[in-house]
Amino acid sequence: MSTRILVVYYSATGNTAALAAALAEGATETGAEVRVRTVPETAPPGAVASNPRWQAWVDAGPHHEYATLPDLEWADGIAAGSPTRFGGPAAQLKSFLDSTGGLWAQGKLADKVATSFTTASTAHGGLESTVLATNNIFYHWGAIVVPLGYGDPHLKESGNPYGGSFVSRGSAAPDELALGALRRQGHRLATITTRLTSANSA
Ligand SMILES: Cc1cc2nc3c(=O)[nH]c(=O)nc-3n(C[C@H](O)[C@H](O)[C@H](O)COP(=O)(O)O)c2cc1C
Repeated sequence: MSTRILVVYYSATGNTAALAAALAEGATETGAEVRVRTVPETAPPGAVASNPRWQAWVDAGPHHEYATLPDLEWADGIAAGSPTRFGGPAAQLKSFLDSTGGLWAQGKLADKVATSFTTASTAHGGLESTVLATNNIFYHWGAIVVPLGYGDPHLKESGNPYGGSFVSRGSAAPDELALGALRRQGHRLATITTRLTSANSA
C-alpha cells in the first residue's frame, strides 16, 4: 500500500495554496498517494472585501475539497500550511486543527509524521514563529515532527530549516526558490513517512 500524505492549507490570496501544490508535487514524486485539502473561509465578508485579491480568491474558490477528520485519520504523513497572521497560523487553519480533540483523545493522531509551512509578506514578520506554533499542535498529538533542515544545497539558499516559506513582499507570488524548497519538503515528508510505516509493518 502506498504511503498516504495529506496536505492541508488555508490561503487568502493564493500564496500558501501555491506552496501546498509544490509540497504535494514533491510527495507525489516518491510514489505516495497525496490528498490536498483546504479549510473553509470564516473571515467576515467585510474583511475579505477590504482586499481585492482576497475577494477574488474567495470568489474563485473553494480551490480544493475541505479537509475532514477522516482525511487526518487516513493520512500517515501530514503537512499543514497557513499564511502568517500576526506572527502565527491563521484562525481558519487553526480552527480545523482545533477540531481534532476526539481523534487526539483516541490516540489516532499519535505517530503520524508532520511538517508545516508558511508565507508572510516580510522576511522577519513571523515565518519561523508560524511554523513553530503550527508544530506545537503536532507535539500535542504525539506526532513525529519533520523539519525541513539544510540537508540539500537548495535549502541553504531558500534558507528556512523550520519549514518551507516564502516572503511575498509587494504581493509577489511564490518564486522557484521557495517552490523548490516546498517540493523538497514534500519529498522528505513522504520519504520519512514511508520509512516509518514500513518499519512499523515489518
Ligand atoms: C490579517 C493579516 C495579518 C498578517 N500578518 C502578517 C505578519 O504577521 N507578518 C507578515 O510578514 N505578513 C503578515 N501578513 C501578510 C500575509 O501573511 C502574506 O501576504 C501572505 O503571503 C499571504 O498568503 P496567502 O496568499 O496564502 O493568503 C498578514 C496579512 C493579513 C491579511
